[in-house]
Amino acid sequence: MNTLRIAAQDDRVVVRLHRPEARNAINAEMVAELHTVCDLLERQPKPLLLTGGDGFFAAGADIAELLERRRDHALRGINSTLFERIRRLPMPTIAAVDGYALGGGAELAYACDIRIASTSAVFGNPEPSLGIIPGAGACWRLKELVGEPLAKMVLLAGHRIDSDEALRARLVAEVHGPADLEAAGHRLIDGMTRMSPAALRLTKLVLDSPAGAHPVTDHLAQAILFEDPDKEARMRKFLER
Ligand code: COA
Repeated sequence: MNTLRIAAQDDRVVVRLHRPEARNAINAEMVAELHTVCDLLERQPKPLLLTGGDGFFAAGADIAELLERRRDHALRGINSTLFERIRRLPMPTIAAVDGYALGGGAELAYACDIRIASTSAVFGNPEPSLGIIPGAGACWRLKELVGEPLAKMVLLAGHRIDSDEALRARLVAEVHGPADLEAAGHRLIDGMTRMSPAALRLTKLVLDSPAGAHPVTDHLAQAILFEDPDKEARMRKFLER
């Protein structure tokens, strides 16, 4: 991998975006390498901790590449397809954002299940200032995450969200000093690893189901888990403490 640094452990995968010379701008190579990570995590489901460099998460899509893109590139949804694939990974994903998460970098963080931030995190979507829309999720995910008033400030007025505001808006779940951020991400994953992997995976799937699919998806998922010996073992262990 040229644009990512990957640490795969038994119970988690840590992916660090790594194009420091371009502030981790997301280029075609990084997109391809993140698809490779998705392929791995779809075959061997594990929680993902996604981080950037010290002082920057990702400064957006690579503007030199965007300059050359035309209609058919946009119709392929290069970044949105990747971010949707990340969104649908079987196990939870955590974005640990230190410094700038701008444009596509912010959209990548919006696509993760949970975001935590350092005190120096800044989220923003400056795409309209470059003559394009934020086309990889911000126009709908940000609204879902923080509500229309703040989303419109970011998307239509160029407002940037710092860590305090991100915490108040619940865009991020926690804020830590930059040096503590990655450890905080690991602590969240430690909690996940104590859960039943099947229950965690199905909870994510049901949680992300469209409204009309409930409660049928809930019942089906529970029916699968009620037949799982792991459920019986966990409940017996509790009752026999
Ligand atoms: N695409 C391509 N290259 C980028 C980039 C991007 N999105 N963001 C930064 N870079 C490159 C710069 O061109 C520069 O390259 P160079 O050293 O070859 O000149 C290098 O990264 C460092 O960037 P620089 O602007 O000098 O760093 P900074 O620390 O002063 O500022 C940012 C950091 C993130 C505030 C600034 O780079 C920025 O505003 N980037 C663009 C953000 C943006 O508009 N994103 C939306 C894209 S759709």
